[in-house]
Amino acid sequence: MESPRQFSLVSFIALLAYFAFLASAELHVREFVIEPKPVKRLCRTHQSITVNGQFPGPTLEVRNGDSLAITVINRARYNISIHWHGIRQLRNPWADGPEYITQCPIRPGQSYTYRFTIEDQEGTLWWHAHSRWLRATVYGALIIYPRLGSPYPFSMPKRDIPILLGEWWDRNPMDVLRLAQFTGAAANVSDAYTINGQPGDLYRCSRAETVRFPIFPGETVQLRVINAGLNQELFFSVANHQLTVVETDSAYTKPFTTSVIMIGPGQTTNVLLTANQRPGRYYMAARAYNSANAPFDNTTTTAILEYVNAPTRRGRGRGQIVPVFPVLPGFNDTATATAFTNRLRYWKRARVPLQVNENLFFTVGLGLTNCSNPNSPRCQGPNGTRFAASINNQSFVLPRRNSIMQAYYQGMPGIFTTDFPPVPPVQFDYTGNVSRGLWQPVKGTKAYKLKYRANVQIVLQDTSIVTTENHPMHLHGYQFYVVGSGFGNFNPRTDPARFNLYDPPERNTVGTPPGGWVAIRFVADNPGAWFMHCHIDSHLGWGLAMVFLVENGRGQLQSVQAPPLDLPRC
Ligand code: C2O
Repeated sequence: MESPRQFSLVSFIALLAYFAFLASAELHVREFVIEPKPVKRLCRTHQSITVNGQFPGPTLEVRNGDSLAITVINRARYNISIHWHGIRQLRNPWADGPEYITQCPIRPGQSYTYRFTIEDQEGTLWWHAHSRWLRATVYGALIIYPRLGSPYPFSMPKRDIPILLGEWWDRNPMDVLRLAQFTGAAANVSDAYTINGQPGDLYRCSRAETVRFPIFPGETVQLRVINAGLNQELFFSVANHQLTVVETDSAYTKPFTTSVIMIGPGQTTNVLLTANQRPGRYYMAARAYNSANAPFDNTTTTAILEYVNAPTRRGRGRGQIVPVFPVLPGFNDTATATAFTNRLRYWKRARVPLQVNENLFFTVGLGLTNCSNPNSPRCQGPNGTRFAASINNQSFVLPRRNSIMQAYYQGMPGIFTTDFPPVPPVQFDYTGNVSRGLWQPVKGTKAYKLKYRANVQIVLQDTSIVTTENHPMHLHGYQFYVVGSGFGNFNPRTDPARFNLYDPPERNTVGTPPGGWVAIRFVADNPGAWFMHCHIDSHLGWGLAMVFLVENGRGQLQSVQAPPLDLPRC
């Protein structure tokens, strides 16, 4: 038995430990000023919208358990909102950011403070504008280190290098979007891809600014690769070096080694790289994985991995040696993309929901809206139509008068309906030759209600309407397990038997195999309005989105918090 005195000593130590724990959690107070800034790329200068004049924007480095208070001050001429991609925002949709979903946009001259806490998350995430195409230049890395003293499941290199892959237009991206929205045709593809904001050696007027990463021979570094591109899945590779994948979308994986990764818009992938090659200069490069039958930017972005002891050339043509170029898969190499994603496994046994309460089947894909006057300048899509996209034939339209979350919280009618269909309105051969009568989706602002703590399974089925394609589907407010995938039509009788319910990868963004399906599972333990959409911004604009409305559970700890007082009004 403890004596009272021993007991008080024990509780005193416990109290100290508790305070140390509290003290180790930090509050990060930052200002994000949204402002135009001259940025020169591809020989021309544009007034790009930036955060604090930086492109890419500032990297946020925090620890699990920390809180952030980021005041966004809008000094640009566009409405804006910022999304913290992958942060769960438990009971706090007010800090999530997608405009007209969880908040009204921050108007020019106004500000809003995003206040949130990192709860049980660590790894690489990122932040970006969630307002039309502003994220073309408004994005940055969000790195979450483990709590002090809490280990990594692999031996963590001393050096950590964020690799932000982006897309650059040699025009104002907002004008590119505006033109596409007017004509109904596909938006112009980008003019360059970028690594940490720079296109690299293979583009005009770019060589002097190519990003270089010095490395010591024998050193291992971690690359935190983020696809911040608007519209394109990418292959990424480093010449002569193997990459060991250790994390995707802020979830650790069983490590495996590969020479190339495929990464979709919205996704992150951490890889370890060891400088075990001949002292020299090696390109890292990214270029399109284009799964659709559609135009795409076929250029290649590069940066240089430079051994500090790389030899220099002597005599005539003296200077640095020419970097070695990596072997990249072909643009349409779905086999390589699939082989890569199929190797992903959660690092340990995953807590996958085994019983499913909500069994949802969503067709995702493109469509075409017919025009009464096909010769109209507004109908420049295929055969005088306008491009559209949908989930279960519902093409999502953002509300304008209020955000869905605010309308839901205030009980304001007329902003959205809750009749989003759990299955497609008609069954058809989704990946076959689809009859033209099924190509035109219906427009609407529909949400699907989920009970608190429901076990949800969604099969995302790509369709061959217009074209089959890899759609990187992102769910806000959640991490989900990718329990299965395949090509062709999902077969509910035979496919579930092959699901991986043991160590499926955990993600926040998953691609549908082109002409195939992917199945995800999660527990609906985060109340609020949560956007699910294709992270290809042209598809998002065409309506490839829907909203989950997760109901409150019992009591305060299972309910959405009260909104902050400075939440923008529409
Ligand atoms: Cu990274 Cu809704 O977005």
